[in-house]
Amino acid sequence: MSQIQLNESLLIAKGGERACYLHPLDNSKVIKILYTQGNHNNQNKLEYIYINDLKRKKTDLSHITDCYGFISTNLGEGLVFDRALNYDGKPTKSFRYMVANKILTLKEQKKLIEELKQYLEKNLILFVDTSLTNLFCQEIQKDKYKIIIVDGLGSKRMGFKFWLYRNFKGYTKYKIKRQWAKFMKMYEKDVKRAELGKRPFTRL
Ligand SMILES: Nc1ncnc2c1ncn2[C@@H]1O[C@H](COP(=O)(O)OP(=O)(O)O)[C@@H](O)[C@H]1O
Ligand SMILES: [Mg+2]
Repeated sequence: MSQIQLNESLLIAKGGERACYLHPLDNSKVIKILYTQGNHNNQNKLEYIYINDLKRKKTDLSHITDCYGFISTNLGEGLVFDRALNYDGKPTKSFRYMVANKILTLKEQKKLIEELKQYLEKNLILFVDTSLTNLFCQEIQKDKYKIIIVDGLGSKRMGFKFWLYRNFKGYTKYKIKRQWAKFMKMYEKDVKRAELGKRPFTRL
């Protein structure tokens, strides 16, 4: 297969470790490329393993951007994901953006968060990198939203703990609970910041 050509004009955003590009041949997909040196912590490989693990267990993936495997690009190996898009085809905003700009009321935010929590607990899904920029707030119908996870699933690194948390229900539940508490702390901080009108949020 020929190599996919990426360039800066296709760049959507950069996270701590990966750059996210619009797929030049498919508007509904993105390609994530590791840009950090060293590769000791390959988030692409890890997420690929984890999402396939969930698929093998026939897990409900309705709050996750699906992942389709690796392709070769001029910037190296990339992992293809569904692009977060709203019902009208417009790009979805991060949950942090919605909080910072008070686009949803606190009550609406709480409802979406509670739905996500139930989803993670019911389906035993590890959401570990709990930054609010890893959650997107998809408008699925006019004024109707749902939170989807675009990053931060599984674990931050490979290893024994990841294996444990994946394979033993008791540990999975424990980890989900712990990470959820972390997420809520980050969320409450952002809410306070938005209330105080403290801007700009550095990353949205
Ligand atoms: N599926 C997606 N659709 C649209 N934008 C995305 C998607 N996944 C990630 N992004 C954007 O790209 C940024 C970086 O991607 P991310 O997977 O979070 O990288 P990292 O692992 O380095 O944090 C995200 O913060 C988000 O703004
Ligand atoms: Mg991220």
